[in-house]
Amino acid sequence: MDVKSLAVIGAGQMGAGIAQVAAQSGVEVVLIDVEPLLVQKGLDGIRAQLDKAVSKGKLEAGAAQAALARLRKGGSAQDAAGCDFAVEAATENEAVKKRIFADLAKAMRPDAILASNTSSIPLTRIAAAATHPERVIGMHFMNPVPVMQLVEIIRALQTSDATYATTRALAERMGKTTVLSKDMPGFIVNRILLPMINEACFALQEGLGSAQDIDTAMKLGTNQPMGPLTLADFIGLDTCLSIAEVLHKGLGEDKYRPAPLLRQHVEAGWLGRKSGRGFFRY
Ligand code: CAA
Repeated sequence: MDVKSLAVIGAGQMGAGIAQVAAQSGVEVVLIDVEPLLVQKGLDGIRAQLDKAVSKGKLEAGAAQAALARLRKGGSAQDAAGCDFAVEAATENEAVKKRIFADLAKAMRPDAILASNTSSIPLTRIAAAATHPERVIGMHFMNPVPVMQLVEIIRALQTSDATYATTRALAERMGKTTVLSKDMPGFIVNRILLPMINEACFALQEGLGSAQDIDTAMKLGTNQPMGPLTLADFIGLDTCLSIAEVLHKGLGEDKYRPAPLLRQHVEAGWLGRKSGRGFFRY
């Protein structure tokens, strides 16, 4: 299927980023959230990003206008009716995601594909609760979506070859490189990234170095754009903890146990950039 229209459910940072990149690649997009203020904020953010790209000479003004014209607002799954494809980027809560998938299945055509941007919930379980499990798939974008090249595609046990082919073609049309991961805890990126971040938390907890020195060591010593503690603050320490817990529980090995210092920061409400304080202050 050639995807011409996309519904993005959840107008947070990830949802807005996905909507922006899809609209820029020529797809008609409806950005849906039950919270109208969030949809407006998402669209305002996209407009600001596009304006910035135009002022830097990286995007033609006409192309920015055309992308904005392809975006519309939505408030419920009903607004996804008629779309070829949906990407759910709502909160990481299994019950919420299953409800959204059920609502989308009722509202959309029976051949529409339902993808989840989940970073940690098993797709096979989401698919098992869906009306057409063979049309359910994981499409994991990285933050910030307009900048990051990768989309991790996760096949549930039930996902059909046709669903995978359409999803991959959509990601490539959006200018992304894809990798295929089995439906295992953390998929590929978080299976490897989170243990590094978690180890940085253990290192800080043990006083191996200061937060700044740990980050400088990894940033300059291994050519990463951000040190692991800065990256943890960027992702959100609550999100990091929840992924670490998924790895620990799902893979069952002690080496994945979340660092107590990470847990403590979350308990203190020091969630990273979004709360103004994490391992660093913002
Ligand atoms: N949206 C759109 N564009 C953005 C952006 C955003 N939120 N943040 C930065 N950019 C753009 C800037 O506009 C700038 O563009 P130009 O080159 O055209 O000017 C470019 O990115 C570089 O930005 P900055 O100069 O402001 O800052 P930087 O060089 O430090 O780059 C960064 C910022 C791109 C975020 C970089 O630090 C980086 O790549 N960090 C690592 C990010 C990462 O690893 N993300 C994956 C996290 S894991 C994940 O997402 C999965 C999960 O499940 C947890």
